Amino acid sequence: MTSKRIKTAALVWLAVWGCAASAQAAPIDWSKVAGKSITLFYPGQMSLEMLLTQSEHSGASKFREGKGCRGCHEGEEQSSGNLTVADKSVEPTPIKDKPGFVTMNVKTAHDAERLYVYVEFNPGSQPDAGMDKNFATKVALMLDDGGVAEAARAGCWAACHDNATRMASGGDKETTKYLARSRASVTRQGGADIKPAAELDKIRTEGGFLEYWQARLKPGAAPDVVDGDILDKRAEHKTPMVVAEAAENNGLWSVTFSRKLMAGAPYKDFAPGKTYTIGFSVHAGHTGHRFHYVSLEKTLMLDGGKADFIAAGP
Ligand code: HEC
Repeated sequence: MTSKRIKTAALVWLAVWGCAASAQAAPIDWSKVAGKSITLFYPGQMSLEMLLTQSEHSGASKFREGKGCRGCHEGEEQSSGNLTVADKSVEPTPIKDKPGFVTMNVKTAHDAERLYVYVEFNPGSQPDAGMDKNFATKVALMLDDGGVAEAARAGCWAACHDNATRMASGGDKETTKYLARSRASVTRQGGADIKPAAELDKIRTEGGFLEYWQARLKPGAAPDVVDGDILDKRAEHKTPMVVAEAAENNGLWSVTFSRKLMAGAPYKDFAPGKTYTIGFSVHAGHTGHRFHYVSLEKTLMLDGGKADFIAAGP
């Protein structure tokens, strides 16, 4: 072998080994990290527009004035979910025997390179909705770094609109999550007329988009991981920067997401001193689209500060 060949072989070996290493267990000992329990509830068709309408939601005027969802609803998620899952006015196509909520334990940490988010949840006994034949269970999170004004108060609802697929005025037409700022106008039925590309680019440059990560889960298999961003639509990135590992034990899923702290555009940078809004969702029982459980808006900081989740460093 010439020395060039040896070098090439070594490089190939390194690259292969490098991939294998990054897919291995995260180097965080989660047993040493304190978790926080949150409740994800079934929201039905309660869109941002509905929640902004006083005659349909008594929290609307206070919400318009600046109060966040959690300011009124934290601690009530289980009863909210039990209500909405069976209330025909906000869930016209209820799934029989669907539980109203799922609880989740969340832990976060970071090292010099990456942010790690660990979630543990058991969807419990779930009827098979038959919408997603491939995956019974999917877990996702949505992130903002202050670039989307309404996200800090409304969490995931910032992207939940009345005309999205299978929402009240959405029908079966494929309309993904989007942000109000991407539309020329918004009515009770959601946003119309996407702004011109140049304006969207400007909003994007200002950080006016949300980021999401999702792991699609199958017992005994590696999770299917996607990430993407949301502005005028939910846009999945071709090659995800996010990696995830998952394990299931008697219905209990534990999933570790991670990604580089600084992944470059179109990802949010993670740095100490900044407050991030984070919201979680779980699709359980082979559901798709809006038929998921969601958390209220939560906060995340690196190293220290006042937030629901503090990702401590090494
Ligand atoms: C100022 C307090 C307040 C704020 C802020 C608020 N709500 Fe409400 N919300 C209420 C009250 C009161 C009700 C019950 C009566 C009703 O439906 O109008 C309610 C009802 C609901 C329900 C129906 C289930 C239930 O528990 O009655 C959901 C779901 C909900 N709100 C979600 C949200 C979300 C999501 C946000 C933020 C985008 C939000 N709310 C902001 C006060 C608030």
